[in-house]
Amino acid sequence: SEELKTKVLGRNIIYFDQIDSTNNYAKRIALEGCEEGTLIVADCQTSGRGRLGRDWNSANKKGIWMSLVLRPDIPFEEVQMLTLAASVAVVQALYEVAEIKAGIKWPNDIIINGKKVCGILVEMNMEIESINFLVLGIGVNVNQQKEDFSEELSDKATSLKMHLEELGIQKILKRTQLIAAILLKFEAIYDKVKCGDFGYIISEWKKHSVTLGREVSIIYKDRQYRGIAQDITKDGKLIVKCEDGTVKEVFSGEVSVRGL
Ligand code: BTN
Repeated sequence: SEELKTKVLGRNIIYFDQIDSTNNYAKRIALEGCEEGTLIVADCQTSGRGRLGRDWNSANKKGIWMSLVLRPDIPFEEVQMLTLAASVAVVQALYEVAEIKAGIKWPNDIIINGKKVCGILVEMNMEIESINFLVLGIGVNVNQQKEDFSEELSDKATSLKMHLEELGIQKILKRTQLIAAILLKFEAIYDKVKCGDFGYIISEWKKHSVTLGREVSIIYKDRQYRGIAQDITKDGKLIVKCEDGTVKEVFSGEVSVRGL
């Protein structure tokens, strides 16, 4: 924590050797009124959760499993920007700490050479028309080796260490240093979201996107469509040109990118 240079985020840190899910814990203490920026970090999770009801493999002590409690005064529609902002912050932090060039798969998976290295799970609690709190959960595969991933996962997942080794770089990545870098990058972008200043986030997201120009499959009004991801809107929706010629705009959670 002495490495931390943020103003608000991570000023209050709660650390666990083991916990069910840092997101679950964060939601609990957020409901009890914990302060904005409270950070929950665990060495391992017994039931880590991913997006769309999936499990998140985090039983080992080799990754970063953390959740931030945020209390932004923004309308519901702008939460989308926060999830995009978080992925931008992680990509920037990976480059700063280890010169790793990662990409962003819509909406917020961090990808290296086609394999996932980090996932982000945003959960929120609404009051009438406004957000009470938001939990931003970030999982980064840091020091895993190939054998730490199941056979099924090893085609789809990688770790920072595995990537650096493939490049012939023997570097020990300190999880604390990475956490500090992610929080610092995210704090700067979070301030922009709170002011409604989205231009920078959108342009950074596009710069690092591995989705634009690719074939995607989307759910739109309960129907599935295939198309090509063309761009994102100023408010963070993905613009997809569908096979039937129509153009549709979708929020996160409704898109899967083929072949990635
Ligand atoms: C995804 O890509 O599906 C999102 C994965 C999010 C994983 C992180 S690890 C810390 C936090 N606690 C959880 O249970 N999940 C998130």
